[in-house]
Amino acid sequence: MVLLNLVRLFCNKVYCTNFKPFLFKQLKVLKKPINRNYTCAVSGNKLEYNPECEKKINNQIAVELGASYTYFQLAFHFNKSTVGLKGLRNFFLALSEEEIEHARYLMYYQNLRGGKIILTDIKCPENVEWTALKALEKALDLEIRVTKAILDIHQLACRSSDPHLASFLETEFINEQYSSVRKLRQMLANLKVSGESEGLLQIDRELLHKYKPKLLLHPPKK
Ligand SMILES: [Fe+2]
Repeated sequence: MVLLNLVRLFCNKVYCTNFKPFLFKQLKVLKKPINRNYTCAVSGNKLEYNPECEKKINNQIAVELGASYTYFQLAFHFNKSTVGLKGLRNFFLALSEEEIEHARYLMYYQNLRGGKIILTDIKCPENVEWTALKALEKALDLEIRVTKAILDIHQLACRSSDPHLASFLETEFINEQYSSVRKLRQMLANLKVSGESEGLLQIDRELLHKYKPKLLLHPPKK
């Protein structure tokens, strides 16, 4: 009992002399507002938006439109009377439309966040003699680049504590990008196994059955 009291006395002493100021110091630190550099915070009457994110979204609009431009070129290559692969035509038309949709989403988002849409030059596609294999390899390469660009913006959004932008990219883009990359890898693998003659015709028939682009299939009415 005596020993216990001595221990209590010692602890009180130590607590009062050393721990108490330390504890108060810690509580003061905890009470201080945490500086999260939160870019979604309200500043005046405007919700803040990291200018670097705004710039990257503008770049991404050009990337998406550039991809659409390339897919457009590929679609009309496969529509030529000397090629006549309507399944691949439909597939690339659908991809082209999808990329325009992505550009539209990004423009919408820029408006939503009070950013300024600055459109830039769109990179023109390569003028090469396409084959089905080359076209699918090109599409895979494009989708991988687009995915990396989206992930780069997502990383910046996270670093800028911008959950709204991060969530927008996750919902509208990232999942779809991984699906596109997977789909193109599978198509390429099938084409490599089946060859660019009989196997290609089979793949083309499947694509024709599967892809029905909303626009562009019919010539303009007079
Ligand atoms: Fe896209």
